[in-house]
Amino acid sequence: MDQHPLIVANWKMNKTIADAVLDFEMIKNGLENIDDIKAVICPSYVWLAPLAEIAKTHSVRQLALGAQNVSNEEKGAFTGEVSAQMLKNLVEYCIVGHSEQVAHFGESPEQTRAKVNLLLKNQITPIACVGENVKSDNSIFEVINIAKQILKDLAAPQRRAVILCYEPVWAISSNPNAQPATGGYAGKVARALSKEFPATKILYGGSVDSKNIREFTVQDSIGGALVGSASLDPKEFLEILRNA
Ligand code: 13P
Repeated sequence: MDQHPLIVANWKMNKTIADAVLDFEMIKNGLENIDDIKAVICPSYVWLAPLAEIAKTHSVRQLALGAQNVSNEEKGAFTGEVSAQMLKNLVEYCIVGHSEQVAHFGESPEQTRAKVNLLLKNQITPIACVGENVKSDNSIFEVINIAKQILKDLAAPQRRAVILCYEPVWAISSNPNAQPATGGYAGKVARALSKEFPATKILYGGSVDSKNIREFTVQDSIGGALVGSASLDPKEFLEILRNA
């Protein structure tokens, strides 16, 4: 398993093309001076091709592109959808099962599972999000249960090719009263996931910024972070990468 922290920027439905290009270039240039890290930028689908062109010129090995979602169908009459095959050779990573897809568009663990399978078939690393809505004594059980539903058909080598992201909904900054998990708590959940899925890389997501990133990356069980709002400012994102 790659030991460098993997820091994923989920830009969600933000940025014009001009901002996306400018910010991507700034992150790319800043990364030249930051070693031992891998940064993945997940812009809107429509900015992937132009950013992939920029990534190719004087490419920086610490930088990769990711998609924010993919269809659970292989191809055909699915208006508005983008297939894993279309993303092949454009992205290295793809987020699936994000809680916003679950909450607003009803994505089920079965659909996430289908997406994971299609991504692996197209040599794209899935970043499968798992998290509970409300923190309780049952949280760890709930999170492991979702992960089991997503990964259930996969053989051990395929499981190792998937990244799991523990992203509790109560910690996502856009939710009312959001609070980041403590490093200790996120580490505990990640350890439980690691025990169930050995050698699968585990990330943490939810209100991560340059001030708290280290709390998470010092945990042995956590291999990096999925960052939403703090990734929108390229200076802050570079600071997260430096501090990780
Ligand atoms: P925030 O970092 O804004 O809490 O968002 C987390 C997230 O949803 C990343 O996928």
